[in-house]
Amino acid sequence: MDGEPVEISSGVYWVGALDPYLRAFDLVMPLKKGTSYNSYLIIDEKITLIDAVKSGFYDQFKQNISEVIDPTDIDYIVINHFEQDHTGTLNKLLETATKAEVIVSKNALPFLKETLNRDIPHRTVSDDTEVSLGERSLRFYRTPFLHWPDTMIEYLVPDNILFTCDAFGFHYCELHEERVEEPDYNLWYYYDLIMRPFREYVAEAVEKIKDLDVRILCPSHGPFRKRNPDRVIDRYRHWSTRESHFEDPTVLLVYASFYRNTARLAEGIAGGLTEEGLSVHSEDISYGLTERIKDKAEDACGIVLGTPTMAGSPIFHIWDLFKQLSIVSKGGKPAAVFGSYGWNAAGIKIADDVLRHLRFKVELEPLKVRLVPNDADIKAASRFGRDFAHIVKQYLSSKKPVR
Ligand code: FEO
Repeated sequence: MDGEPVEISSGVYWVGALDPYLRAFDLVMPLKKGTSYNSYLIIDEKITLIDAVKSGFYDQFKQNISEVIDPTDIDYIVINHFEQDHTGTLNKLLETATKAEVIVSKNALPFLKETLNRDIPHRTVSDDTEVSLGERSLRFYRTPFLHWPDTMIEYLVPDNILFTCDAFGFHYCELHEERVEEPDYNLWYYYDLIMRPFREYVAEAVEKIKDLDVRILCPSHGPFRKRNPDRVIDRYRHWSTRESHFEDPTVLLVYASFYRNTARLAEGIAGGLTEEGLSVHSEDISYGLTERIKDKAEDACGIVLGTPTMAGSPIFHIWDLFKQLSIVSKGGKPAAVFGSYGWNAAGIKIADDVLRHLRFKVELEPLKVRLVPNDADIKAASRFGRDFAHIVKQYLSSKKPVR
């Protein structure tokens, strides 16, 4: 990949920057193939640039633009969202593109102000705003939380090109899809870490664009997609609207246990949940996380989590579980915590706090039992399960169904 401008379609160019050596995106997403920061230039009566690139890549970016046009001629700069991999060079570019007007969604206004720290000419657009560029026009669609609140995408008419910001892209330092290894896996890997927490919003966005005739998908990272772009959109539709693995409302009961004390409480809780007519899916993670735990957590109508305490903390596997839960769509899902402990129950308290901070709805006081549960403790566990079942039923009756 050489990093020079690429004419994607007549008068539409890729002019972004390549970052082949990036090995972790946003610090949390390990990468093997680097990434690209895609910026697109549309040549018409109004010369329009879609997105800027990350700071540190300005020279490459400006060189690419300059090979197609004089950057001082840019009329519009569309910023689809303000994360700094797309805006880190915007201030510098505006020093050259002095007549450019920046086009953003309304939700982007605070980010614009706090990223640039100065006033610049700008306008806001919303659903179905159409901005004429001359022969062509850009039609805008708000797609909040794909994956920031300000995110929008736009459709170039009559070229049928959809500029999709972070959606439908992936981190890979290559622009030509035929040169990408495992494009399906890369698309999934990106969706799983970046888009999955906002699954309901992804479903809404896919629904919003369902009638568009898309010839080329132009995301912000990785290759543009000319070969069957509808299939890429369909993957997002499938992942975001996937039916639950569970046929009935099912509670995920996930726990780790050193000496089966926490496990015995789990059995008592499971009994209480089933007495109330709920299905229970038990996952013993004492030896590590189980397969597809994110799917199971996402599909469950509630999560009950059990942990022992080790060195004043939940055990390591529970922290691994928190990492997974942090990227699962929660939607105020009920959760509760239990556990057996030795001389202090700090791990249970921490687990309870973390679930609250992850935006689960935690209403029950944690069930804590010192050392070996006796018959009364098992009865209390059963009651805890029944109480949690009532909370889950209220949640289910109030919940908007996920399509
Ligand atoms: Fe590619 Fe959300 O930044």
